[in-house]
Amino acid sequence: MKATAVARANIALVKYWGNLDARLNLPAAGSLSVTLAGLETRTTVTRGGASRDRLMINGDAVSPAALTRARRVMDAARALAGHDSEPLLVESVNSFPTAAGLASSASGMAALAVATAGALGLELPPEQLSTLARLGSGSACRSIFGGFVLWRPGSRPDGSDSHGVQLHPAEYWGPRVVVVVVAEQPKPVSSSEGMALTAATSPYHQAWLQGADRDLRQARAAIAARDLGSLGQVAQRSCLRMHANMAATDPPLIYLTSSSWRIIEGVQRLQGQGVPAFFTADAGPNIKVFCEAEAEAKVASEMGKIPGVKQIIHARPGEGAALV
Ligand code: DP6
Repeated sequence: MKATAVARANIALVKYWGNLDARLNLPAAGSLSVTLAGLETRTTVTRGGASRDRLMINGDAVSPAALTRARRVMDAARALAGHDSEPLLVESVNSFPTAAGLASSASGMAALAVATAGALGLELPPEQLSTLARLGSGSACRSIFGGFVLWRPGSRPDGSDSHGVQLHPAEYWGPRVVVVVVAEQPKPVSSSEGMALTAATSPYHQAWLQGADRDLRQARAAIAARDLGSLGQVAQRSCLRMHANMAATDPPLIYLTSSSWRIIEGVQRLQGQGVPAFFTADAGPNIKVFCEAEAEAKVASEMGKIPGVKQIIHARPGEGAALV
């Protein structure tokens, strides 16, 4: 009657920013990410635990909008299990700031998909758990898998072939990720809303989408060669082009703050000194710095000196979502 799952956040190296179908979160292009040990969501789903669906995150009931989103995953799992109207109690705890661009929606929806399927007695292959998680948050489909993960957009209108695929497991390569937190509040505009606004109003959006295949090819080759320098070149480019596309919307969508830019400058200073490191950022002001293991301490100490930095979290490639 009850199942608990753990899932981890993921950080995209080639970014997802644009849907073909916003209801099903079917992306307009592929994307590629690393699942991160160190940024975890633990979710318990209980059948018969409430008279109607309830979702608590870190002990607080969520907004009606957040519940509606989670119910896309819960409804799809209930339909598969043939338990259409069974209410579920969902209790979720994040080990990191919620909704501040640290991909809590990804780890949250991945943990929700696995725990809901578990509580309903469904034994689904990871690809199908990935499509379930995707209904709650697109990027969550990648957190079902560990290590280096590709999201294949798929071509079926029902989204059944739009899911993550593991390229390499977590232990394949161990670059470190220094997560530099400058804001701990939720972001003002969700990624889904931001993507819709960008597609509707940014004159750069088509050019952005056209760059995805080349970025994916280059990122996959860099990962296959365990080449942090080449990976950094494509990841920084994908990140900055995504943020340029966001900033070109009407009204503008600016997620990076002055603190974010100071960190980016700090990473560039380290690169100038020959330190193997690169930056990336999702739809929020926090910056993730990838580096070789031997540079981690230096990167963290330099980042910690920058004004505006509130917290540093150490992460590295981690496992996919699983029942515990
Ligand atoms: C910028 O699929 O996480 O992180 O669920 O609305 O937060 P929401 O959308 P989500 O969008 C992710 C966008 C991104 C880039 C990426 O992860 O590829």
